[in-house]
Amino acid sequence: MHKMTSTFLLIGHLILLTPLFSAEECVICNYFVLVGEPTAISCPIITLPMLHSDYNLTWYKNGSNTPITTERRARIHQRKGLLWFIPATLEDSGLYECEVRSLNRSKQKIINLKVFKNDNDMCFNGEMKYDQIVKSANSGKIICPDLENFKDEDNINPEIHWYKECKSGFLEDKRLVLAEGENAILILNVTVQDKGNYTCRMVYTYMGKQYNVSRTMNLEVKESPLKMRPEFIYPNNNTIEVELGSHVVMECNVSSGVYGLLPYWQVNDEDVDSFDSTYREQFYEEGLPHGIAVSGTKFNISEVKLKDYAYKFFCHFIYDSQEFTSYIKLEHPVQNIQGYLIGGGFSLIFLLFLILIIYKIFKIDIVLWYRSSCHPLLGEKVSDGKIYDAYVLYPKNRESCLYSSDIFALKILPEVLERQCGYKLFIFGRNDLAGEAVISITDEKIHQSRRVIIILVPEPSCYGILEDASEKHLAVYNALIQDGIKIILIELEKIEDYANMPESIKYVKQKYGAIRWKGDFSERSHSASTRFWKKVRYHMPSRKQGSSSGFHLSP
Ligand SMILES: *[C@@H]1O[C@H](CO)[C@@H](O)[C@H](O)[C@H]1NC(C)=O
Ligand SMILES: *[C@@H]1O[C@H](CO)[C@@H](O)[C@H](O)[C@H]1NC(C)=O
Ligand SMILES: *[C@@H]1O[C@H](CO)[C@@H](O)[C@H](O)[C@H]1NC(C)=O
Ligand SMILES: *[C@@H]1O[C@H](CO)[C@@H](O)[C@H](O)[C@H]1NC(C)=O
Ligand SMILES: *[C@@H]1O[C@H](CO)[C@@H](O)[C@H](O)[C@H]1NC(C)=O
Ligand SMILES: *[C@@H]1O[C@H](CO)[C@@H](O)[C@H](O)[C@H]1NC(C)=O
Ligand SMILES: *[C@@H]1O[C@H](CO)[C@@H](O)[C@H](O)[C@H]1NC(C)=O
Ligand SMILES: *[C@@H]1O[C@H](CO)[C@@H](O)[C@H](O)[C@H]1NC(C)=O
Ligand SMILES: *[C@@H]1O[C@H](CO)[C@@H](O)[C@H](O)[C@H]1NC(C)=O
Repeated sequence: MHKMTSTFLLIGHLILLTPLFSAEECVICNYFVLVGEPTAISCPIITLPMLHSDYNLTWYKNGSNTPITTERRARIHQRKGLLWFIPATLEDSGLYECEVRSLNRSKQKIINLKVFKNDNDMCFNGEMKYDQIVKSANSGKIICPDLENFKDEDNINPEIHWYKECKSGFLEDKRLVLAEGENAILILNVTVQDKGNYTCRMVYTYMGKQYNVSRTMNLEVKESPLKMRPEFIYPNNNTIEVELGSHVVMECNVSSGVYGLLPYWQVNDEDVDSFDSTYREQFYEEGLPHGIAVSGTKFNISEVKLKDYAYKFFCHFIYDSQEFTSYIKLEHPVQNIQGYLIGGGFSLIFLLFLILIIYKIFKIDIVLWYRSSCHPLLGEKVSDGKIYDAYVLYPKNRESCLYSSDIFALKILPEVLERQCGYKLFIFGRNDLAGEAVISITDEKIHQSRRVIIILVPEPSCYGILEDASEKHLAVYNALIQDGIKIILIELEKIEDYANMPESIKYVKQKYGAIRWKGDFSERSHSASTRFWKKVRYHMPSRKQGSSSGFHLSP
């Protein structure tokens, strides 16, 4: 005999099928029972708070004020709050009312009992079934519900007979296990074939008579999303950048619908902990909602060594006698670009700085070298209409003047600049032609020169002796103002005090500086590659190879 269940109760879970559920939600609660079988109906009003208080529960036939008898021998009676039909007949179908009365208030509920017959040649009625759902690939249970009121007098769980599509014998499948204490069948590995109509039947003895109590369950098998093959969450044949000596946790995660996958790490075809005894592998497993399990294994590389970069670390697991593999590889980190740029920027600045310093120190040598090697590019225009490279001005020696400016100007200077370097000089007092007016010569020759070299000696007395003081002023004036001709000051001795010098000389000294002669005044040959001469040559115009020859025709 079958009992109970409102439409909504048919869906799903067995917990809902116990009598003390939230049945107050149904307006008229539906119960059903197979004709000829006993059933015990509980009043759906009885919710937990009321159970704690003192109350009287009474059952009535719909429309009747007379309570149903409590006489245990009656086929229909009420006992311990339950309405019993032992057994039910087709005429029992109909409405019944239960009333709960406590000190202060009373409450009624109407239930509908349907007594049904089995379908033809079937052991169940297709309309009167309990729905149960299991998930494929998981383990599941088929439960024979609502038997708690049908324990025999010894309170022993009754023997239950099971049928699938009204046939016994299906329990021979090894995946199916009887769970007797639970009135259930355990399915170890649910497949779609497990769906169907299951009927359970037990024998209930009451007042010496035996009755069948049966239920039929419609078992649905839901394709669980966990049917999915296990998958690596991590790693995915990827590389990670780690610093040498850093600490790395090597984690391998697999998500799947089953528990107990045992992923493991291997390196170089060995288990990690035999590959390196400092690696200690640790397994873990965790359940996620929807039956997803995450199985993982990890080990620590406390300090990454060079050898660790050489291998791939493989994580394996076996599922369905198939091996799954994924690896991870360690890599040296690439310089981060920003740091690289900053570092590069700094070194570039440093390099420029260094080049500046080097240039400052070796400027003269570099320019001279450059002139000699890359001449044509740098040479001043030869076609500037000038004849001389430099006009040389110096104080003529007198007895009172200690300095051998004559020797310097007439011997040493020409020896180096003219003979060795190929410059063409106009030296006042050497090149001047007799009879020409000093002023006009000076003016003309300076105009024909690219530089003016003024040789200075510290002794003011020597200037006084300068043949024509105005000559120097004029020369300087011309050079400065008119042509922008560069002036090269050469001190034959360190001049501490320019106070007594003409203004123009002071100006030139301030603007161009002076080159101090450090050599002797012997007439032996002087090398053009000493520091002094390099400085002079640096200030001299650059010479074109062979250009000197083109300027031999002096006026
Ligand atoms: C239930 O009882 C009410 C009131 O007595 C009556 O009107 C109704 O017809 C009854 N229903 C059935 C199905 O007997
Ligand atoms: C229950 O019924 C008994 C007997 O009829 C009565 O004595 C008792 O007061 C009732 N209790 C309640 C809570 O109505
Ligand atoms: C009974 O009802 C009265 C008012 O109707 C209320 O004051 C009292 O608390 C109630 N007692 C119980 C036990 O519910
Ligand atoms: C279960 O029974 C219904 C009839 O109630 C039938 O239509 C259905 O095919 C059965 N299920 C299986 C899997 O045999
Ligand atoms: C569970 O069922 C699946 C599909 O039928 C099968 O591949 C697998 O081997 C079964 N596992 C066990 C433990 O029986
Ligand atoms: C119980 O059901 C079985 C199988 O349908 C049947 O053989 C047996 O006679 C029934 N017993 C009673 C007392 O109805
Ligand atoms: C692996 O799974 C564990 C547990 O779910 C989680 O804490 C961890 O972050 C996962 N690691 C990776 C790399 O996904
Ligand atoms: C591995 O590293 C984790 C995280 O740093 C740490 O909690 C754990 O203690 C380490 N295990 C071992 C064996 O070093
Ligand atoms: C990762 O590498 C392993 C072995 O090299 C291979 O079997 C696997 O298919 C690879 N997985 C992916 C996602 O490429």
